Amino acid sequence: MLGGTRSAVNGEARTRHEDATPSSPVQTTRLSRRRVLQIAGTGAAAAALYGGLALLPGPTRRGVAPPPGGYPRGQYQVHDYGVRVRVDPDSGVDVIIPPVWNLVITANLARTPGTLERRRLEAALRAVEAAYAYAPSGVFPLVAYGLPYFRAHVPGDVFNDHLPVMTGADAAPVAHPTGPPALLDAMRFASDPPTTLLEANEVAFHFRSDVLSYLRDVHAALFGRSGTLAGQPAPAADLSDLFSVTSVRTGFVGAGLPRRLARAARLAVADAIPEAAPLFMGFTSTQRLGQASEEAVSFDGKRDALLQPLTSARPGDYFAGGTTMHLSHLIEDLDRWYALTYDQRAARMFHRYAVAPPGRVVVQTIWLNPNTAADDARTDLVIGHNEAVQRGSRSREGQALQLRVDFNTMDALDASGPTPGVHFLAFTPGSSIFHQSRQAMDAADLTGRYDVAPAANGINAFIRATRRQNFLVPPRAHRAFPLTEL
Ligand code: HEM
Repeated sequence: MLGGTRSAVNGEARTRHEDATPSSPVQTTRLSRRRVLQIAGTGAAAAALYGGLALLPGPTRRGVAPPPGGYPRGQYQVHDYGVRVRVDPDSGVDVIIPPVWNLVITANLARTPGTLERRRLEAALRAVEAAYAYAPSGVFPLVAYGLPYFRAHVPGDVFNDHLPVMTGADAAPVAHPTGPPALLDAMRFASDPPTTLLEANEVAFHFRSDVLSYLRDVHAALFGRSGTLAGQPAPAADLSDLFSVTSVRTGFVGAGLPRRLARAARLAVADAIPEAAPLFMGFTSTQRLGQASEEAVSFDGKRDALLQPLTSARPGDYFAGGTTMHLSHLIEDLDRWYALTYDQRAARMFHRYAVAPPGRVVVQTIWLNPNTAADDARTDLVIGHNEAVQRGSRSREGQALQLRVDFNTMDALDASGPTPGVHFLAFTPGSSIFHQSRQAMDAADLTGRYDVAPAANGINAFIRATRRQNFLVPPRAHRAFPLTEL
């Protein structure tokens, strides 16, 4: 077991928000040891905090029908299934409103899977889909596979024959592509400490819902032998003997929730977090035009009618409709972040011309072409996260290539108690695109050249990655132990 949060969704005490209200402030961002113990242990503490945020448990539900038109081919495709896009009234910007609650479970296989195991995993996922609608009001399930899975359970030649490779092609189809494989081992980046763990999980599940209790229900059915889903018998959902769980990660994203949770956790910084912020760091990060389209992140996606996919995959290939996913855990230093003024935070998050009334959480971003990061570093010795990352996250035509599905957390993963952070999940049509974006975000090229102070280099000095891993997200048709049937 790598993480300390196994019990975060294990049905611990479901505290109402009022129950977690502080009686006296604490001086640091992290919870005091005493308070942690009061809430009854590390994982339980985070679970109680989340329970305090969740409104009411969802009703018991009977079976649900598949979405009209069926399930999408890509497991990451949720935008046409009830996910709202809202026009922010202050900025006029379209903002995607993702499902509020997230549950990530990483695991290793107890044995090499065969036909029986493939059927069982598919049956378990179908049991979840039969219990909960494919919608934010139900559950979006996803299962992804790390390189350790493919290395241990799939013959090397079979894997190599089917894994797409990057082509970087913008013009003509590439007959003999020679680029790097679409799935790469995770790496440490310039701003990562040597302690950042490069994980070796075989499998990662990601479940998303507006209702926390549904995720707890799914967790208990798949790995806790509850035998039920949505109040109905569901023995087929039990996967507990197939996997050993290595970590359980939980969190949320939604306007107002970070401040409420920070208050419930008695963080001294709570009142500095803007009331409407969906993320602890005070800004919205799901502007529609700053996110890759779901089409653009699939291996064979046509980003544009005139452009070729970025990988060798073509419609009909085994992994067509698949993508890659990066999963990392970031700890945030909110005390230092909110010691800055609003303008200083906006300059570090966006660029030096990002001006907005203090407290504004949606600051419109556009494709900065030509990119402004080097000019800002040279003239103002400050670099914005948004301008820096665009140097690696957009195609040469300006299309966003990274679809971020990150969320806030108070998990005690890699910390002695509940700690504010982010589980950073992002889909890209190849791990190398995530790597080039993350390197661009670090901006080591610019800080060296222009002597930019670490605390003026985007948000890099305010976040610390404790662990990273890349996964392949197969299309829905091959989501159960891909390639083991060949
Ligand atoms: C605590 C961590 C982070 C926070 C709070 C954060 C916040 C933001 C915000 C506010 C934006 C601009 C608004 C928008 O596009 O909707 C943004 C954009 C973006 N971020 Fe982050 N971010 C974080 C970490 C990361 C990481 C680790 C990456 C990995 C490379 C990343 C990649 C991006 C990308 C690709 C964009 C879109 C840039 C564009 O094309 O316009 N972010 N982020």
